[in-house]
Amino acid sequence: MAKKSDLSLKPVKELTAEEAAVELLRLAGVIASADDAYYGDDRPEMTDAEYDALRRRNALIERDYPKLKRPDSPSLRVGSAPSTKFEKAPHAIPMLSLDNAFNDEDVIEFDARVRRFLKLEADAPLAFTAEPKIDGLSLNLRYENGVLRVAATRGDGAVGENVTANVLTVSDIPKTLKGAPDILEVRGEIYMSHADFKALNERLEKADEEIFANPRNAAAGSLRQIDSAVTASRPLRFFAYAWGEASAPLADTQMKAVERLKKFGFPTNPMLRLCTSVEEMLSHYKAIEEKRATLGYDIDGVVYKVDRLDYQERLGFVSRSPRWAVAHKFPAEKATTVLEAIDIQVGRTGALTPVARLKPVTVGGVVVSNATLHNQDEIERKDIRVGDTVVIQRAGDVIPQIVEVILDKRAGGARKYKFPETCPVCGSHAVREEGEAVRRCTGGLICAAQAKERLKHFVSRGALDIEGLGEKQIEAFFESGIVTEPAHIFTLEARQRAGEIDLYVYKVKADGSYALKDGEKQPTNLKSVENLFAAINDRRAPALDRFVNALGMRHIGETNARLFARHYGSFSALMEAAQGAAEDGPAYEEMLSIEGVGALVAGGVIEFFKEEHNRAAIERLLQEVSPQEMKIEASASPVAGKTVVFTGSLETMTRDEAKAQALALGAKVSGSVSAKTDYVVAGPGAGSKLKNAEALGVAVLTEGEWRDLIGA
Ligand code: IVH
Repeated sequence: MAKKSDLSLKPVKELTAEEAAVELLRLAGVIASADDAYYGDDRPEMTDAEYDALRRRNALIERDYPKLKRPDSPSLRVGSAPSTKFEKAPHAIPMLSLDNAFNDEDVIEFDARVRRFLKLEADAPLAFTAEPKIDGLSLNLRYENGVLRVAATRGDGAVGENVTANVLTVSDIPKTLKGAPDILEVRGEIYMSHADFKALNERLEKADEEIFANPRNAAAGSLRQIDSAVTASRPLRFFAYAWGEASAPLADTQMKAVERLKKFGFPTNPMLRLCTSVEEMLSHYKAIEEKRATLGYDIDGVVYKVDRLDYQERLGFVSRSPRWAVAHKFPAEKATTVLEAIDIQVGRTGALTPVARLKPVTVGGVVVSNATLHNQDEIERKDIRVGDTVVIQRAGDVIPQIVEVILDKRAGGARKYKFPETCPVCGSHAVREEGEAVRRCTGGLICAAQAKERLKHFVSRGALDIEGLGEKQIEAFFESGIVTEPAHIFTLEARQRAGEIDLYVYKVKADGSYALKDGEKQPTNLKSVENLFAAINDRRAPALDRFVNALGMRHIGETNARLFARHYGSFSALMEAAQGAAEDGPAYEEMLSIEGVGALVAGGVIEFFKEEHNRAAIERLLQEVSPQEMKIEASASPVAGKTVVFTGSLETMTRDEAKAQALALGAKVSGSVSAKTDYVVAGPGAGSKLKNAEALGVAVLTEGEWRDLIGA
């Protein structure tokens, strides 16, 4: 029998009922997380092919074990819940997904299935439309009396996000329709062309902003902007291919209905064809596949739809997809090459990511020389070794992946890859927390890969909060090498006075880049510099909790920093405790005894101080600043020792302020509601936390009641 961990590799047919249940549970989780990454964050975590394979496996297991189908089964769901950034827009008619076909047989079976359902003979006439499946995101456009009223994303299929303001900026989409039914919902795909995607990424890169992984993400990210002016600046396009609610029928066939959409002014796909046999469908599929590389936008398959709308009506839907349509997916493009090296990249958060350096090879018309290896487990699971001949796959514009190693071609001496345990950038030790896939560098304070972000955090509002030293200024200092670790901030003045550095105040331009004041290098602007020095000097005795937070230790934000500050009272005590707690024993136990501190949080502090580079950087910093001691006294406030959760928006202060105030009064602030919660302070827009509180019988306060309680 396969080991538990191998379950995901076991063919569906060989699973026992018990294993099937475990596997369905796993798949529900993996697919939900992939959905969130794809739909919610516009950041896919796997290729479409991998995703389809997971869904297929889920469907196969459910077919064999229908009783084990879970209420949270991915087969009952499309997309992910709408984000809270936008108003919700319930769909009058659900927006569904499509069943997939992966090969000719699946398409033949689709035709046969439709015929069986409609009780049509094998030779009875039955026409299908065939058109490219656009790799974008679907949109529902509701027109009332010919005027565009609501534009909504698919969301979870039942409720989407109201993106009307943004859609009004998309020139492909008509804002009014002539001669349309009083109510008409037009559905189609928003996408971005390859050329526009490339230009947008270049623009973002120049402005030092994060770029998009592929055109689909760029389209989604551009559409789901809070500020519609940003959407307006993004070149989004649209193809109409379907409809939702319509107060009068558009036509009697799919083909004619799309024709009408075109007359209303919607772009429709020029490769839409009517096919009267499976052979024609498959040959149009080939024709589209051949044109794929030159279309100028991403497509990931061909959609076939029963042409007659009365047939569509009769066929109806099954769970998440219509019986009258299917998406014939293109196979992922694959090639074989040699893995020449594995490099480790260190991200801004210290994550060590392995990257495969490949002998360049063409996959689907694109030269590929790098592939992602995800993480340590992936390398071990596939037993990928340097020198191996590997099969790589490219799906859409997602970074290529290594699918498998061709073991027959492995050279005799190929050795197992050993994942580094130190950071290749700074040499600090890199640790992997239990249950985490990622190994992280712990040298946060000094590691060049992370230092800039850490410095920004160091001076940020919840941390040392140095006036006049914002993110852009830090960036400028960092790029010029003037400040690369926290201690350097405090030596700026001395170095300037000694003439060691030539400090001028940088002017930050609107696009985020910086220039010297008035363009040219100019004499020091004494007043601003003096102000900056004064602001820095003002922070030489920071509050202990702010100082602890400022260090940016893993898992230690404002709340946990305060817990540690309160408990240990001084920085030296904390440092000593952290070093003592590196081994199991009383120091570790004491740390875990702090209310709110578990092994994970304790680990963040311990690993940080274990790293010699950090200790050295702290020593340099302590030459310059002396964190204050924190008096540990029982507070007399009515909320001392109580656990409080804030949810929803507050009116008289920001949530951060409210939290800070609660902490200052000795309360513990938590992010989630449990039976241990004493109060939930709920403002407008409160959601699941409020529900949980009510379910658990936790006291729920309005903002006003909370203020009364603390006497604010
Ligand atoms: S028809 C009832 N036609 O694919 C389903 N969908 O995987 C009506 N898509 O949600 C959809 N191109 O976002 C249809 N030509 C096309 C399409 C298309 C892309 C998307 C659409 C749908 C998803 C399903």
